[in-house]
Amino acid sequence: MNSDVMIKSDYSFPVYRRGKVRDLYDLLDSLLIVSTDRISAFDVVFPNGIPKKGSALNNLSAHWFEKTQPIFPNHFIEKKDDRSIRVMKADRIDIEFVARSFLYGSAWRNYSKGKHVISGVNLPNGLRLAEKLPEIILTPTTKSDVGHDLELSKNEAIERDLVSRDEWIALEEATFRLYEFYTSEASQKGLIIPDFKLEFGRVGDELIQIDEPPTHDSARLWSKEKYEIGKKQEGYSLDKEFLRDFLIRRGYMGDGTPPNLPTLLIEQISTRCVGAYEVLTGQSKLNDLQLMSVDQVIDELKTEEK
Ligand SMILES: Nc1ncnc2c1ncn2[C@@H]1O[C@H](COP(=O)(O)OP(=O)(O)O)[C@@H](O)[C@H]1O
Ligand SMILES: [Mg+2]
Repeated sequence: MNSDVMIKSDYSFPVYRRGKVRDLYDLLDSLLIVSTDRISAFDVVFPNGIPKKGSALNNLSAHWFEKTQPIFPNHFIEKKDDRSIRVMKADRIDIEFVARSFLYGSAWRNYSKGKHVISGVNLPNGLRLAEKLPEIILTPTTKSDVGHDLELSKNEAIERDLVSRDEWIALEEATFRLYEFYTSEASQKGLIIPDFKLEFGRVGDELIQIDEPPTHDSARLWSKEKYEIGKKQEGYSLDKEFLRDFLIRRGYMGDGTPPNLPTLLIEQISTRCVGAYEVLTGQSKLNDLQLMSVDQVIDELKTEEK
């Protein structure tokens, strides 16, 4: 099944940057972003490719970027092929604009350890895992090419000259406006976007959205129907938390050589990547996807090993 996965692209243009998942080529006045089938978790790239991942992410990005152009300008120029788009070359702002409307992931981990102030917002006591927050909060991090991303406040971002105060205000507002649009689109398709991250850049004097809109890799995508407060949502979600949860259960959190991913897990990740694209673009229904929970995958693998 791995015959047609693309781990590393090999286009004949000069390489601008190879990211963990995507390869960028320099077309002088613009960039070509090629979505490979690589997958990363805990900032580590895995040896296995995920079939159909690159095309699913590429096509979902193109879809979102076209739709949100009137809400906030973005780098998208045109789709070139199934796994590549041509975009505007931007001077990247090294901040990940993370926004959350549910308590999950790192925000939950901090909260459950007693840290109730997240990015300056004081959260009420007694919130449970996956509970809806009283308001949408911005929890930005640094965007660094080496090491892990770190929490970043508005003042730190300005002091470190990553953005001006005016730029911060504009980008915060853009993040909330885009979130509102993404959420309402997703909701019509039976999905919740509890959190996501965006990147922005400068082209001349203009601020534009770059990188990718919400996808399997950059957002959490939960099932509205199966959503349950107090529970993990991975059984029915279409995002990367499924892989992270599997890895944590196997004792891997990013240190040392990444393990080889079992075939069944790869198939389930592929189903989620393609599912996110097809459900959000109205080509498939969430309930038609053959999703397995992490527990089911682990059980099945144990049976295979016997
Ligand atoms: N329009 C753009 N101009 C410049 N850089 C961009 C643009 N769009 C995305 N990028 C950068 O290209 C890379 C995309 O590849 P990715 O695999 O996501 O990399 P990373 O490992 O940094 O997350 C990211 O580093 C992102 O910041
Ligand atoms: Mg990235």
